[in-house]
Amino acid sequence: MHLYKTVAGLRSALASRRDRRAIGLVPTMGALHLGHASLIQRAVAENDIVVVSIFVNPLQFGPSEDLQEYPRQLEKDCRVCEQYGVDIVFAPTVEEMGTPPSQESPSSTVTAVVPPPEMTSVLCGQFRPGHFQGVATIVTKLFNIIAPNNAYFGEKDAQQLAILRRVVKDLNIPVEVKACPTVREASGLALSSRNQYLSETEREQAKAIYRSLQAARKAFCTGEREAFKLINIVKQELALTPEVKVQYVELVHPQTLTRLEKIEEAGLLAIAAYVGSTRLIDNVILRHR
Ligand code: PAJ
Repeated sequence: MHLYKTVAGLRSALASRRDRRAIGLVPTMGALHLGHASLIQRAVAENDIVVVSIFVNPLQFGPSEDLQEYPRQLEKDCRVCEQYGVDIVFAPTVEEMGTPPSQESPSSTVTAVVPPPEMTSVLCGQFRPGHFQGVATIVTKLFNIIAPNNAYFGEKDAQQLAILRRVVKDLNIPVEVKACPTVREASGLALSSRNQYLSETEREQAKAIYRSLQAARKAFCTGEREAFKLINIVKQELALTPEVKVQYVELVHPQTLTRLEKIEEAGLLAIAAYVGSTRLIDNVILRHR
């Protein structure tokens, strides 16, 4: 008989009894592009078995958001997964996942995972109430269903990543969260399933988003540390393309998401903006080397 008094001790004892094969999970909503592919490739390289989940999660869409229009292309996505060496695609129905068909009152219809409000009510959370609860709930369900050793998420959704790391830590979920860098077009535009909604002209205008972040990065590299100055640089650059309607530009701590006045070690400079009726997000991490 063994007695363990620490979580870590217990876990390592349990782990040694488990089948040693590593399972990697890449959660997605489908309409796979090269951003998703970069996560998948890394998962394939680092695990024995890779599961890609494809589920357009109703819990994370607000009542006036694009749940109905969100691109669905399961057959094409399966071919992409096969090409990259994925072992399993998990594409459940809404009924199978036991989620209500919309986000209207998730907590009254399913048990919800509620991350700390100070992380979910800032940045995108201000404009998408309930969104990150919906993400945290579905990803926790996927973790429970699949029990992966490793799970892969993109830095493009930096707030989602920070919140999921926190959920994993707070709920002691035995999974390693792996962050993958944002994949961009040559123009700098971050790849997104929602880019499909953009017209040619809008796609051109959307390039201003990354350009503005790069302008701030340049200032950071030459010594600028003040949040309001870095934010102003972004806003000024974006003002040159008035078709890009800024929802927010903020500088926060990359892990806690608390607002920064000044960058000490690292800052997450994040933007949300509308180009036409498409909402786009992007960010850069500014860090001392
Ligand atoms: P989705 O938007 O399909 O993204 C799936 C994963 O791909 C996320 O971790 C996202 O950050 C990553 N990703 C998207 N575009 C990327 C890019 N250009 N470069 C690198 N990674 C990129 O995010 C979701 O789905 C959902 O919220 C989900 C986590 C699946 C929960 O429903």
